[in-house]
Amino acid sequence: MDPAIAEPPHTLRTKRLVLRRWTGSDVDALAALSADRATMRYFEALPSRAQIQQLVDRQQAALAAGEPGLFAVETKQDGRFIGFVGLAVPRFEADFQPCVEIGWRLAMDAWGHGYATEAGEAVLRHAFETLRLSEVVSFTATLNEPSQAVMRRLGMRHDVEGDFDHPSVAPGHPIRPHVLYRLTAAEWRTRFGP
Ligand SMILES: CC(C)(COP(=O)(O)OP(=O)(O)OC[C@H]1O[C@@H](n2cnc3c(N)ncnc32)[C@H](O)[C@@H]1OP(=O)(O)O)[C@@H](O)C(=O)NCCC(=O)NCCS
Repeated sequence: MDPAIAEPPHTLRTKRLVLRRWTGSDVDALAALSADRATMRYFEALPSRAQIQQLVDRQQAALAAGEPGLFAVETKQDGRFIGFVGLAVPRFEADFQPCVEIGWRLAMDAWGHGYATEAGEAVLRHAFETLRLSEVVSFTATLNEPSQAVMRRLGMRHDVEGDFDHPSVAPGHPIRPHVLYRLTAAEWRTRFGP
């Protein structure tokens, strides 16, 4: 088959993780970890079960279509679902649109092991080598230092000029100010490419 039209892989493997398409049981597991106030402290509200189902359905469809999507992440050691890492197209208006973002949400007991960074490296390779994106961005609440630390470990750079107030967070809310990080394909190749 012409590699140019080959179907993108639906599974990415790293040393300790499998990034895969979603299964039915992931919805309950994602809903449970997304109901944890500490995990979701940089979000304005906890998502409902219906919103989690919609998120999973949307990501499953995106991955099946070979488009940027969030992967379900499980550990190789015990096959446990620990959250998601992957790509998404933001659904709000912003100066930096159109763009593809990289994002992550892991269960709290999976923090502190380097899993988000390890998965993020595989997702960036997928973004630049398979999907042939020219740039990947990432953004988070300015207060969300753990997420920004993942961005920096992935080699992304803070675009201070691009920092913004998230339009769907209420004015005055402490998580409304957001930072914007960027990584171009050329920057990624210089650092991680062949
Ligand atoms: C953002 C989030 C994924 C970061 O998780 P994290 O565990 O801090 O990040 P990583 O998985 O990259 O792990 C890095 C940590 O593991 C440690 N670590 C332990 N073993 C390691 C190993 N073998 N390899 C690499 N790092 C390792 C690192 O030292 C680092 O710890 P430190 O922060 O104390 O220096 C997590 O906080 C989260 O899911 N938050 C909730 C959702 C969220 O806010 N998402 C972003 C919204 S925009």
